[in-house]
Amino acid sequence: MELRINSWEAYQETYRKSVEQPENFWDEIAKTFSWRKPYDKVLEWNFDAPDVKWFLNGKVNITENCLDRHLKQRGNKLALIWEPNDPKEKFVRLTYRELYEKVCQFGNALKAQGIGKGDRVVIYMPMIPELAIAVLACARIGAVHSVVFAGFSANAMSDRINDAQAKMVITADGLNRGAKQVPLKRVVNEALHHCPSVERVIVYDCLGWLPQMEAGRDIWWHDAIEGMGRECPAEEMDSEDLLFILYTSGSTGKPKGVVHTHGGYMVYTAYSFQNVFQYGESDIYWCTADVGWITGHSYIVYGPLLSGATTMMFEGVPTYPDAGRFWQVCDKHGVNQFYTAPTAIRALMAYGEDHVLSYSLDSLKVLGTVGEPINEEAWRWYHIHVGKERCPIVDTWWQTETGGVMIGGLGEHSPMKPAYAGYPLPGIQPVLLDQEGKEISENGVEGYLCIKFPWPSMLRTTYGDHERCRVTYFAHYKNHYFTGDGAKRDENGMYRIIGRVDDVINVSGHRFGTAEIEEAINSDGQVVESAVVGYPHDIKGQGIYAYVVCESLPTDKEVARAEIVEAVVEQIGKIAKPEKIQFVSGLPKTRSGKIMRRILRKVAEGEPDKLGDTSTLLDPGVVDEIVEGAL
Ligand code: WT7
Repeated sequence: MELRINSWEAYQETYRKSVEQPENFWDEIAKTFSWRKPYDKVLEWNFDAPDVKWFLNGKVNITENCLDRHLKQRGNKLALIWEPNDPKEKFVRLTYRELYEKVCQFGNALKAQGIGKGDRVVIYMPMIPELAIAVLACARIGAVHSVVFAGFSANAMSDRINDAQAKMVITADGLNRGAKQVPLKRVVNEALHHCPSVERVIVYDCLGWLPQMEAGRDIWWHDAIEGMGRECPAEEMDSEDLLFILYTSGSTGKPKGVVHTHGGYMVYTAYSFQNVFQYGESDIYWCTADVGWITGHSYIVYGPLLSGATTMMFEGVPTYPDAGRFWQVCDKHGVNQFYTAPTAIRALMAYGEDHVLSYSLDSLKVLGTVGEPINEEAWRWYHIHVGKERCPIVDTWWQTETGGVMIGGLGEHSPMKPAYAGYPLPGIQPVLLDQEGKEISENGVEGYLCIKFPWPSMLRTTYGDHERCRVTYFAHYKNHYFTGDGAKRDENGMYRIIGRVDDVINVSGHRFGTAEIEEAINSDGQVVESAVVGYPHDIKGQGIYAYVVCESLPTDKEVARAEIVEAVVEQIGKIAKPEKIQFVSGLPKTRSGKIMRRILRKVAEGEPDKLGDTSTLLDPGVVDEIVEGAL
């Protein structure tokens, strides 16, 4: 099952083949997996509909490839290491055999609770092994999981449950997060007032709390698995059957349910995992993301397990009990590949070098970063203090929609340049387009980043709304998938991601649509309208800056701000709190009523002298007021 590329020359050769003969290329890789029934065609596609199918008519179950396939050779190898929030608490280690049995057992429990192939299950869980077990158990029985990050509010969760028409929610009483504990079941209870599709709730007892349980609907995890067998045959799935839905923000208020399928997602997450991290058989790999985001799906659970790797899952936060926690955990478990986000690096940088210098970090071989552009300063800190200038940094650019890493290094085999993601992985064909949608073929240019050929783990649709998928990703430029990012390509063909060119803000590597935050702000009674933009933030990458129009200017601005923040926390969650709220008497609009965000962005960025042309504004006077009152 060796899929690894082991030199820069090999990369170039492989890349060339992957573009010249994509079907052959992916066929060779896909063949290394275990299929119940082989596919009869590698690829069928058109980007107009869009309609993309990989490994047609192949029958497969991704969990058979994550678990069963390894039992013979790796049954006693560690599949999962779980490190708790509290370093004094005992960690958990599960071998492939143990994980297999737990997944089977919980799969049987799901079936006993009425869940079957095609049913949607929402998972709202702490970062504990049971989260991975729940995800895999759904996939095993053919149910479609939709993990909702445990920081989202009841409102955000009920929207997602209703969109997916989920039949079940899997949750816990609460979770540990640094010095805090967060009630999860309470949030679920609130959400479910508005979710008639949910018939059952399974609750894992994580903290020993006694949340309110609704008779006939709610059942404890430990009761649900009681008496369940440790063998559960995997459901035979078509390659194109749904594996999961993961909601992500877009430019309208409503989150989109990005859909991934069994076959293609399996092939690409495994292939990209092994290559980007250059995982070796006895390595210990750690990705610090939460399984609530795509990074956790692809590179904590599926990619590593498909590859027979030992993957670590961490319940806590980088700064608890102190800012050395990541490095302590690396030393404690002998971590070889470490994958985190620029925002975490910047947060830790702010605590100084001492925390990282107290640990040896000898085991580290490859460092990864993901989620947002990494600034040079953070890159250097990571390279020097964490990697001791010995470890390559793989800066991985990808998206919820792409399922796996698209542009990024392959361990030590790729050239590295700070703040550059680098070159496309084999099989990935990025292009830069200009304003008119024309491909810019030379180097040393900037443009809209698009992909011109399908790859196995690309999104298939947005759940329940295929037209939205078409309009968002495939209608901007004919025959291209549009990423929403702007990028630069240097003289050597290396890519640097500049950032979003749509109304999406990237806060600490998490995506929020401005419309979604505006809707939340507008739900506050005093607010007439609002406009939200991103601005550069030292730690978070971007912060949220809101311009708010109230019926009358609030007499106590602090109170009014607190109310607005509360409205956002209620509608979306704490993660989407606006950092700055400026009260204004009006927003800069064109004569056709469109808000000119460019102006608001410049003011928020602290560059009011670079507003550009404001002559098309309905009321240019509001601009002066906005500039004067800038925060
Ligand atoms: C957006 C996707 C993919 C997992 C995490 C985020 C930005 C992601 C990088 C990177 C520069 C990056 C892009 C992208 N992004 N990785 N290495 N360098 N920007 O997933 O929530 O789907 O967000 O994150 O803007 O479009 P997501």
